[in-house]
Amino acid sequence: MHLGAVTTLLLALQFMIFIPTVVSDKTKHIPSDTSKLDAWIATNIREYQQLISESKKDLHSPLDPILVAAEAEVNVIKVRKDGTGDFKTITDALNSIPKGNLKRTVIWIGGGEYWEKITIDRSKPFITMYASAADMPSITYEGTAFKYGTVDSATVAVESDYFMAVNIAFVNSAPMPDGKRVGAQAVAMRISGDKAAFHNCMFIGFQDTLCDDRGRHFFKGCQIQGTVDFIFGDGKSLYLNTMIQSVAKGVGVITAQARENVADTSGFAFVHCNISGSGDTYLGRAWRLRPRVVFAYTYMGTLINGEGWSDNLHADRDKTVYYGEYMCKGPGATPSGRVKFAKLLTDEEAKPFLSMTYINGNKWLLPPPNYV
Ligand SMILES: *[C@@H]1O[C@H](CO)[C@@H](O)[C@H](O)[C@H]1NC(C)=O
Repeated sequence: MHLGAVTTLLLALQFMIFIPTVVSDKTKHIPSDTSKLDAWIATNIREYQQLISESKKDLHSPLDPILVAAEAEVNVIKVRKDGTGDFKTITDALNSIPKGNLKRTVIWIGGGEYWEKITIDRSKPFITMYASAADMPSITYEGTAFKYGTVDSATVAVESDYFMAVNIAFVNSAPMPDGKRVGAQAVAMRISGDKAAFHNCMFIGFQDTLCDDRGRHFFKGCQIQGTVDFIFGDGKSLYLNTMIQSVAKGVGVITAQARENVADTSGFAFVHCNISGSGDTYLGRAWRLRPRVVFAYTYMGTLINGEGWSDNLHADRDKTVYYGEYMCKGPGATPSGRVKFAKLLTDEEAKPFLSMTYINGNKWLLPPPNYV
């Protein structure tokens, strides 16, 4: 190798090493200013094609290789109730997808109510349920804990990885628990797969509406309605710009985060959300030993109980919960009456919950496909 080649090689190496990271530290953390949120999203959730061309320049890929391969060729299946699509039901569309699926498969769903109870098992990753925002379909069923057990009461349960839903309403239409009927909990959506994203979706139910069961998840522009424990489970999730609506008549509880072991990294981060509705509603209760829940830059209406959080009558959990609030607003966010075991986070404490890194989103998070 002559000197010229060595110089070229050194220059090339230097170029590789000193190339600025695409997401700089300045744009890494979610801004406090709501008007800057869209710009942050555009910087942090980029199109597949853009990521691929960037990764060619950087000589490394930010995305999981299995996802890069899956997105290279996208398969679209259409579901329409009127029979003009490939299938009339979502269940039939799902059944047409082979086990061991390795391709992004978009199930395009026309408007209307689909009365179906759906489980996507682990053998079918890379599925997207997509609908138009102007003609949002709902998937509705009435499963209850009494009939199926809580986690299997879900109208839609997703156990596979790399799931995405866009503009879909997930509904459990079982009646509101009255305190007399046993097993009236009714899940609308259970997400148990890793690396799932929900854009502009609705989750409608009463008790246990959304089972954020396990894995890393992203929710943006969603609406979640319920009464008690209506966002529960052991997931590690970032909820952005999401409407949380309590329809509780008496005591309501938003989260029952299920972290139990010190080594478990799960937790719910709610950032730029809006909590409204009725009831005497708690932000969370310590259903399990070490729940981790943070609300940041979130508006809290008058429905929020002044104490904010409940240890679920387990005083020993006061030492093990991680309940944090950071720069929240509104009448429900007043810190003076809060329980001792809740904390107002410092900038440093809040930071881990305010970036894509929390859910390793740079490895897998993609924007919704832009179909018409
Ligand atoms: C929060 O949502 C309620 C109910 O939709 C709405 O009236 C209110 O303006 C929202 N507040 C903020 C700060 O976005």
